[in-house]
Amino acid sequence: MAEKKSWVLMVTAQTPTNIAVIKYWGKRDESLILPINDSISVTLDPSHLCTTTTVAVSPGFTHDRMWLNGKEISLSGGRYQNCLREIRSRASDVEDEKKGIKIAKKDWENLHLHIASYNNFPTAAGLASSAAGFACLVYSLAKLMNVKEDNSQLSAIARQGSGSACRSLYGGFVKWIMGKDDNGSDSIAVQLVDEKHWDELVILIAVVSSRQKETSSTSGMRETVETSPLVLHRAKEVVPKRVVEMEEAIKSRNFPAFARLTCSDSNQFHAVCLDTSPPIFYMNDTSHRQAIWIISCVEKWNRSEGTPQVAYTFDAGPNAVLIARNRKVAALLLQRLLFHFPPQSDADLNSYIVGDKSVLMDAGIQDLKDVEALPPPPEIKDNVPTQKFKGDVSYFICTRPGRGPVLLTEESQALLNPETGLPK
Ligand code: DP6
Repeated sequence: MAEKKSWVLMVTAQTPTNIAVIKYWGKRDESLILPINDSISVTLDPSHLCTTTTVAVSPGFTHDRMWLNGKEISLSGGRYQNCLREIRSRASDVEDEKKGIKIAKKDWENLHLHIASYNNFPTAAGLASSAAGFACLVYSLAKLMNVKEDNSQLSAIARQGSGSACRSLYGGFVKWIMGKDDNGSDSIAVQLVDEKHWDELVILIAVVSSRQKETSSTSGMRETVETSPLVLHRAKEVVPKRVVEMEEAIKSRNFPAFARLTCSDSNQFHAVCLDTSPPIFYMNDTSHRQAIWIISCVEKWNRSEGTPQVAYTFDAGPNAVLIARNRKVAALLLQRLLFHFPPQSDADLNSYIVGDKSVLMDAGIQDLKDVEALPPPPEIKDNVPTQKFKGDVSYFICTRPGRGPVLLTEESQALLNPETGLPK
């Protein structure tokens, strides 16, 4: 197997998260994770939201182990096991001449792995951490094991960890093709356009403070498929047409069409949740009130401008994702959001707006005094009282469409110790 007795070979990678603009909701095969419709997402800039994973192999390791954000977690779940089995079966010979390490294809079955993964955003924030996590696990293992498959083929493995993970194998805008085969081989992600294609878009995420105990996506979509008559209509009639229109809107950078489709699809996704028996509510009173307020604000503003300026989308949770057509609009949007959702009086503005802070500068806001001085948005009619929801939003993330997975080659970026293969 190896020339030297004890060694550790490792690889570190970084993978983005993604947000669906045409939603995946419902499986036709639970264990292979095959969806009932195509979906489309935008990959978010990994400098603001990403997972970093280091994977290591050593003859000294006694069993597969994994640490998530520094805490050891079990790998015994079916989803981890499926990904590990699939990737191991595609491993090739590996040779590291400098370290004097040689691993033959057949050795991978008997070698154990250490995996350390870290999210640069709170795992509990409901921001698709499993998408970035499984994509990063599969991508980094593929590099470690010299797997020859391309990212589309790797996406079919990441899909078996979490459906939405397959879309994190690419940057820009990505389509998950539902496929037809029973074995899932054609249920893969493909890149529609890269992150440079529509780089004026700005994405603002409102992470809400109060969160109710959530129905997981997995059980939620199972119940929807079992009980909702609407979801069948959605999968068969609505989504196929929307996917064609959405691809066209993205390719031609047609923001009005993009915004209309994104908002409608988010609303229909929540409609099928309500059509589930018993109904699935992804929001509690506070977050629901906030979502309604954000939606009506955006709808009002879009109408008053005569053409959409901002699109909104909500996943299986209360965080609002807002996509502004360009930086100028993003600055105006941030002013509106801060007017309605100001931070607590003792808050630090720097931790209330995270990510690309230049949008804050464009909005002319330097400190809390500037937030307090913001005038009500002009589209609000004089006779309507202006509402403020101080403290309802934990923080805002300003981001943009971003790139796909990359390898991190600096040893300082690795999460495992190169000598011991244990977390640093
Ligand atoms: C609402 O990918 O988390 O975010 O495949 O069961 O792991 P599993 O579900 P998951 O579902 C994501 C659902 C969604 C919509 C989407 O991302 O397309």
